[in-house]
Amino acid sequence: MVLEINPKNLEISFADWVEKIPESEIRRLLRYSPKYYFGGGKPGLLPVQTFHKIIEEIVVDEKKLLRENSTRSLDNYNYGKTEGNDDLREVLAQRLNRKDKVNCTKDDLVITTGSQQILYALNDVLIRPGDIILVPRPTYLGFLRPAEKMGAKIITLPTDENGMITEYIDVAIKLCKKEFGRNPKVLYVLPYSDNPKGTTLSNKRKQEIIDTVFPHNDILIIEDAAYKEIQFDDKEYHPLKEHDTENQRIAYLSSTTKEAASFRLGYHVLPDRIRDAVIKAKGYYDLCTSEFTQRIASKYYEKHIDEQIPIIQQGYKLRRDAMVKAVDEFMPEGIFTLPTGGFFVWYETKDKAFDSKIFVEEALENGMSFVPGYSFFPSTGYSITEENSLIHGKTSTNTMRLGYSLLSPELITEGIEKLGDLMYESQKRNTKKVKCLGTLEDYSKFWF
Ligand SMILES: Cc1ncc(COP(=O)(O)O)c(C=O)c1O
Repeated sequence: MVLEINPKNLEISFADWVEKIPESEIRRLLRYSPKYYFGGGKPGLLPVQTFHKIIEEIVVDEKKLLRENSTRSLDNYNYGKTEGNDDLREVLAQRLNRKDKVNCTKDDLVITTGSQQILYALNDVLIRPGDIILVPRPTYLGFLRPAEKMGAKIITLPTDENGMITEYIDVAIKLCKKEFGRNPKVLYVLPYSDNPKGTTLSNKRKQEIIDTVFPHNDILIIEDAAYKEIQFDDKEYHPLKEHDTENQRIAYLSSTTKEAASFRLGYHVLPDRIRDAVIKAKGYYDLCTSEFTQRIASKYYEKHIDEQIPIIQQGYKLRRDAMVKAVDEFMPEGIFTLPTGGFFVWYETKDKAFDSKIFVEEALENGMSFVPGYSFFPSTGYSITEENSLIHGKTSTNTMRLGYSLLSPELITEGIEKLGDLMYESQKRNTKKVKCLGTLEDYSKFWF
């Protein structure tokens, strides 16, 4: 008997998660190129000329090396170590000690292909279905979705204008024990200018996190410091990791992305056992990160970054000011955050029935983008309420993440005015009054 096979049609089923986990809203929005781009956190200020200079230097060195020692030259274009290039890890370890007060050596560091890879890897190596993860509400979707993919139970904790409200961590730990018979496995924290709210934890709150979590040695803190270089005030940066002098309890994550996006490099200080498991996983994801970009990064972080960062910070600060002022002036009644760094303002309109997921389509048609707030909440899962109870879900649809990193202050002002007008039209409302979530003192110092 001859089997009838139509070779044109592929008949294949996908892994369960492909249906279950939504596409990243940020990645989806990147398909559009609206004039007024307030979507993904694309850096708009990069020291391109410095990158050219470094690449030119490398080419000169390489040509010389090829003449003198062709074997070593070949090595430079080959596979590298899974944990990362030694020179780059040395340069970054020194900078972490000096600037971020993180006590580490190059051997504590792992380089990944973007910080996104470590967010995936940590979930991959740690999470068994049913394990519990505590996160601020809202939180970065690049951490949430891989956690959901691995079957984690996600519990969100209340936040305010200063980030995660730390007293709820203890409440959550006790409720986990009572309801699920176990401790959470991970607490995910974004201490500086978080994504999506742009809020920053005070030193007092950071100390409270340490005091609450450290007595439980079955809970890992993941400290995501993606925006630590993009800060607008002169306050000293004190990471939670500073308290983890033995490198046992905190996975400290950094990225080169916000100051050099195309490198696609993340660098992380991880407790030993976690580091080994992550390297093992990475060996199967991509074997190793590109040696060539690591060499460029090594020169950039050794010689140039400290000169470039203040210029970049100043530029983003002007953009932040323009965004906050325009939101204050043009958006419908609501509340918004006053970021002390990073790329985003979080805006919540007073109209609870407003659905930013629907509105974003209208905005895109009119040449504007933003990320609808629902993306920063787990698709399923639990929340700790302000009344200390554990409930299912809790997503807000009347929220937006507005990114100011890509556009000039002029375009930001123009675009937010248009976005506000479109929202008024959409909401059929004409009252407007917004409340800033910073203190009046913070608020006034930026533009009055
Ligand atoms: C908080 C946070 N962590 C991690 C990442 C991922 O960084 P990378 O671009 O290095 O993969 C991002 C990217 O926007 C982020 O906002």
